[in-house]
Amino acid sequence: MFRRDPIPPAEAVEILLDGAPLTARRGDSVAVALLAAGVTRFRGSVVSGAPRAPYCLMGSCFDCLVTIDGAPNRQACLVTVAPGMRIERQSGAPQLLPEAGA
Ligand code: FES
Repeated sequence: MFRRDPIPPAEAVEILLDGAPLTARRGDSVAVALLAAGVTRFRGSVVSGAPRAPYCLMGSCFDCLVTIDGAPNRQACLVTVAPGMRIERQSGAPQLLPEAGA
């Protein structure tokens, strides 16, 4: 779907998608990093499980929700990659984390 120029080693950031290593470019959003790596399914819809992927890339559609470093429902288009970041695709309705102190 997308093709990008090779990532210079100085700009490479290693992340994990469902435990598998991926190389992103420093400054990429998680959504851009995954799309550039050929990922087309970010989550399954809550109702039918149909595959969903980023649509708006600006925080409006919520089709890019993933779990990042154990925190569910993060908008992949609004989070910048970081070295060692653990990203997991979601299926259905993930559990919400309790508020601190609740
Ligand atoms: S792609 Fe629409 S909110 Fe992230």
